[in-house]
Amino acid sequence: MRQILEAIESPDASSAGAGDFASVAVPESYRAITVHRDETEMFQGLETEDKDPRKSLHLDQVPVPEVGPGEALVAVMASSVNYNSVWTSIFEPLPTFGFLQRYGRLSELAKRHDLPYHVIGSDLAGVVLRTGPGVNTWRPGARVVAHCLSVELESPEGHDDTMLDPEQRIWGFETNFGGLAELALVKANQLMPKPEHLTWEEAAVSGLVNSTAYRQLVSPNGAGMKQGDNVLIWGATGGLGSYATQLVLAGGGTPVCVVSSPSKAELCRRAGAEAVIDRTAEGYRFWTSDERQDPREWKRFGRRIRDLTGGEDVDVVFEHPGRETFGASVYVARRGGVIITCASTSGFRHEFDNRYLWMSLKRIIGSHFANYREAWQANRLIAKGRIHPTLSTTYPLEETAQAVHDVHRGIHHGKLGVLALAPREGLGVRDHELRARHLDAITRYRNGDASPACDVTDARPELPLGSIGGTCHAR
Ligand SMILES: NC(=O)c1ccc[n+]([C@@H]2O[C@H](COP(=O)([O-])OP(=O)(O)OC[C@H]3O[C@@H](n4cnc5c(N)ncnc54)[C@H](OP(=O)(O)O)[C@@H]3O)[C@@H](O)[C@H]2O)c1
Repeated sequence: MRQILEAIESPDASSAGAGDFASVAVPESYRAITVHRDETEMFQGLETEDKDPRKSLHLDQVPVPEVGPGEALVAVMASSVNYNSVWTSIFEPLPTFGFLQRYGRLSELAKRHDLPYHVIGSDLAGVVLRTGPGVNTWRPGARVVAHCLSVELESPEGHDDTMLDPEQRIWGFETNFGGLAELALVKANQLMPKPEHLTWEEAAVSGLVNSTAYRQLVSPNGAGMKQGDNVLIWGATGGLGSYATQLVLAGGGTPVCVVSSPSKAELCRRAGAEAVIDRTAEGYRFWTSDERQDPREWKRFGRRIRDLTGGEDVDVVFEHPGRETFGASVYVARRGGVIITCASTSGFRHEFDNRYLWMSLKRIIGSHFANYREAWQANRLIAKGRIHPTLSTTYPLEETAQAVHDVHRGIHHGKLGVLALAPREGLGVRDHELRARHLDAITRYRNGDASPACDVTDARPELPLGSIGGTCHAR
């Protein structure tokens, strides 16, 4: 791994050149965050909130997989924690080994994924080490990020919208060899250029959530948001919500941000949102019991939104909490409005009063990740400095389980980064001019508490290997 890191950090390493990288030896094994098939019953009988990812996630030494046609092996400098890492680690709603088994039945090549351990993680920033037969666009040495859409594309159903491919999978969740590791295996068409004004850890955090929020809000496959739209954003400083807020602002809309603390409300305001609701301070109780919702609370919530928008309702509701909020979301959408949902964190059996949907001609749209094109467009916005990573804290690979635990508990802000091969934060920036222009926005979530931003990069482009860098996160 040291030879790989030296090649990556060498001042001569260029994003175009195979140069040193083709001659760098690939090791036989690598360190990776895993769950184990023989432990999937370990939390039986416990409530969701009592299942502790620190018990189920392991740091293992695992063999390097063979690189197949159309694939790339990437040296991972940094990765990130997504909520799917929480689902995997608590084996909910199902252990991911079922996904791997099903995938393994597809082909000889896919069989590699069906193992007694699952290397997880659906984001990465790093450098291509090897490519398989048939890969022409990407060469060893390319500095990349990866989106997490894995598709076979053998069926015509996915040819307009790659998310509709019947063999669509989320890499590192429904496939093996994910990004929370020193090496990762991806399909080469998951690769996209690394935004060069960002550090490795900043570049690593956006792929999954930014692409998902982009399809939900901006794409015609989602809500197709327009200038001037009011958009209600649940969890506006969470992984998805922190990007949704930026996409709405960048698209000329008005985000109505819902969060659960004053510090999160302040983060929304610093991002440029003026309409912010602290749901804890305002004490909304949409459910009076496990069975019953209180429509008076939906109405109180709707009045609060109108207070903030000058009397208007929301054109779009950006939904993901699910059961707890869905009744309110359907109620507060304007006549003809859209509720766009991609998840059900608080429960997947939603209940709402259908009279408010059909009589007011509202629509509910299901959305899931993003197709190739949407993921590419979402990354392009990051690369141009229009949308910024919301990295708050970075953990070493060894402490990934703690980071997943923190996301499970909801005590994080924005995104949590994980350093894999990168020896410290702050490395990997090549476009210092673009970075300087957007530094405040790039570092807005640092410290996670609306305290003044700081930059972890050194003024020099790259520091020598092993040097101690400035970390400005407080854990
Ligand atoms: N389908 C897809 O492609 C896709 C992609 C990404 C994520 N997801 C799913 O989307 C969900 C959110 O992901 P994320 O990365 O944004 O997670 P996250 O970083 O934990 O943020 C979610 C935020 O939602 C808010 N929230 C959670 N439970 C809530 C509740 N009961 N009522 C109101 N607000 C609530 C919280 O904010 P406050 O406490 O501040 O209100 C939380 O910070 C997860 O279930 C994830 O698996 C799906």
